[in-house]
Amino acid sequence: MQQFTDSIRAALARHTGLAAEELKIESPRDASMGDLAFPCFVLAKALKQAPPKIAAELAAKLSAELEGIEAVATGPYVNFRIERALLGSTIVGDVLRQGADYGASALGAGKTVVIDLSSPNIGKPMSVGHLRSTVIGAAIQRILDAQGYRTVGINHIGDWGIQFGKLVAAVDRWGDTVDVEGDTVRALLELYVRFHDEAEQDPTLEEQAARNFQELERGEEGHVRESWRRLTELTLAEFQKIYDRLHVGFDQIRGEAYYEPYLGPTIERIEAAGVTEMSEGAEIVDLGEDMPPCLLRKSDGTTLYATRDLAAVFHRWEQFEFERCLYVVGSDQKLHFRQLKAVLARMGLAWEPRVEHVAFGMMRLPEGKMSSRKGRVVFLEDVLDTARDEALKIIREKNPELANAEAIAEQVGVGAVVFNDLKRERIKDIEFVWSEVVSFEGDTGPYAQYTHARLASIGRKAREAGEGAGAPDWTALEGADGVLLALGRFPDVLRSAGEHAEPSEVTSWVLGLCREVNGWYTNHRVLGQEPGVTAARLALVEAARLTIGRALGLLGVAAPEEM
Ligand code: ARG
Repeated sequence: MQQFTDSIRAALARHTGLAAEELKIESPRDASMGDLAFPCFVLAKALKQAPPKIAAELAAKLSAELEGIEAVATGPYVNFRIERALLGSTIVGDVLRQGADYGASALGAGKTVVIDLSSPNIGKPMSVGHLRSTVIGAAIQRILDAQGYRTVGINHIGDWGIQFGKLVAAVDRWGDTVDVEGDTVRALLELYVRFHDEAEQDPTLEEQAARNFQELERGEEGHVRESWRRLTELTLAEFQKIYDRLHVGFDQIRGEAYYEPYLGPTIERIEAAGVTEMSEGAEIVDLGEDMPPCLLRKSDGTTLYATRDLAAVFHRWEQFEFERCLYVVGSDQKLHFRQLKAVLARMGLAWEPRVEHVAFGMMRLPEGKMSSRKGRVVFLEDVLDTARDEALKIIREKNPELANAEAIAEQVGVGAVVFNDLKRERIKDIEFVWSEVVSFEGDTGPYAQYTHARLASIGRKAREAGEGAGAPDWTALEGADGVLLALGRFPDVLRSAGEHAEPSEVTSWVLGLCREVNGWYTNHRVLGQEPGVTAARLALVEAARLTIGRALGLLGVAAPEEM
C-alpha cells in the first residue's frame, strides 16, 4: 500500500509545490469512494482557490500520469482507486515477500523505549490489574519492537515497604502453620490477614514489624533481610508460572528495593534543584494548587513509593536516555504519575514530556466458583485454568478428532483472556463474561484464532491436492477489496498503535480483517478453480493467514494451525 501512497504523494508534491511529507493521504470513510483520498483543504490558502476546484484540477492531472491509479474529484477530495489486479498483486506480493516481517519498519532505529509493566507486589497475589499491565505492556513492547525501537521491559516489583516488616514478623510467629514453600502466595496472604487480626490485641506485633522494616532500611544483613529475600524469591517463582502461561518475559526485574542506594542521591538531586521544602517534619515538593505535594521523606526518615519511582526514573534516564518511558499502570494511579511528572517539570528537566503514564481501566471478573477468593482476591491461575477448561469443552464439541486438544485449549483459553483484555481502548473498564470471552464467534480471540486455523486448513488442503502452482490471475481477487485494503493498512495500524501505546488498535484491526476474509471466503471458492484463479485466491488466503498470525503474535495470542 505504501508504494501507492508514496507515488500519489510524490505526484501531488510536484503539482502543488508542497513537501511530500506535508500531504496527508487518508482512507476514505466510505470505501465505495475509493481506496485512498486526499483532502484539498490544506491547499486552499496557498493556492487561493476553493478546495473543490483544486480537487477537480488535481484529479485530471493525476489521472493522466499515475499508472494503474484512477483519480476522481468528489467535492473537496481527490479519491483514488487502484486498479484491482494491481492492488491485489501488490499487496499480496508485499505480504508474502516480507512474511513474518510484514508491517515491520525501522521507524524506531536508534531510539530506546522503556516500558514499566506488570509490577506486582511480593507477598500478595497478582491482581487482575497486574494482569492487565502485563498483557497491555507486553503487547506495546512487541509492537514497538516490530518498529525497530530498542525496548526495555522492566518489571518494577513491589518488594519494599512496612508490609515486609509485618510479613517477616508473621512468618516468624506462625510460619509453620501454613505452607510457605509449597503454596507461597496463599500462605503469605493468610499470614498477612492473621497479622492484622492479632495486631488489634497484641501491640508488640506492630512494634516488631516496625523494627524489622527499620532493619531492612538500614541495609543490615541478618535474619530479617534473609527472610525478606526468601519470600521475594518464592513469590517471584510463583508469578513466573503466570508469566510462562502468558509467554511474557522481562528485560529487567527490578524491585523497588533495587533503588535503595539511589534514594539519598535522588533526594539530594531534587534538593539541589531548589524545589524541596519541609512541611510538618516531612520533606516535600510543592506542586501548586492542582495537586497535593509530592512526599519525598516522611518525618520518621523513611522514603515512599514516589521517592523510589523518582530514583527509578533518574536511573532509567541515565542508563537509556529514553525516547519514551512508559508506565503501564492502572488509572487509579493517575495522581501518582501526575505528581511524578510535575516534580520532573519543576526541576526543569527537558525530558519530562517523554515520561508517559499509559493508564488503563479496571477489569471486573465474574464472581462464582471459578475464583477462589480470600477476601476479595482472585487468583489469576484460576482464571486461566477456567478459560482453558471452557475452551476445551468447546473444542471437544466442535472438533472431537483434534490431536493435542489439551495444548490447543491452553492456547485458546489463555489467548481468549489476553485478547479480551486488549479488545477495547485500554482506558475503558472491561467486563468479564465467560461465555463471551471464550466464544468462537463475535469479537473474541478464539474467533480470530479460528479464522487463522480455517485459512491454514485451506492451505493444507491445497498442498495435499497439489493445487495453487502456476501464475496467479489477479483479476480473480475481485470482491476481495475489503481484505486487500485491510492487509494494506497493517503497517499504518502498527505505527499508530505504537505511537498511542494502544494495542486495541491492532485488535480491532485484526477483527475487521477476519470479518472481511470470512465474508469473502463464503462467496468465493478457492480450491478446484482455474489454476490461475486458485493460485491468486490461495495467495490471498496465505497472506491473510500470515498477517492474522502476525498480529495475534504481537498481541501475545497464540495462533494454532488447527483448533
Ligand atoms: N507495585 C505497584 C502496585 O501494585 C505498581 C508499580 C507500577 N510501577 C511503578 N513504577 N510505579 O500498585
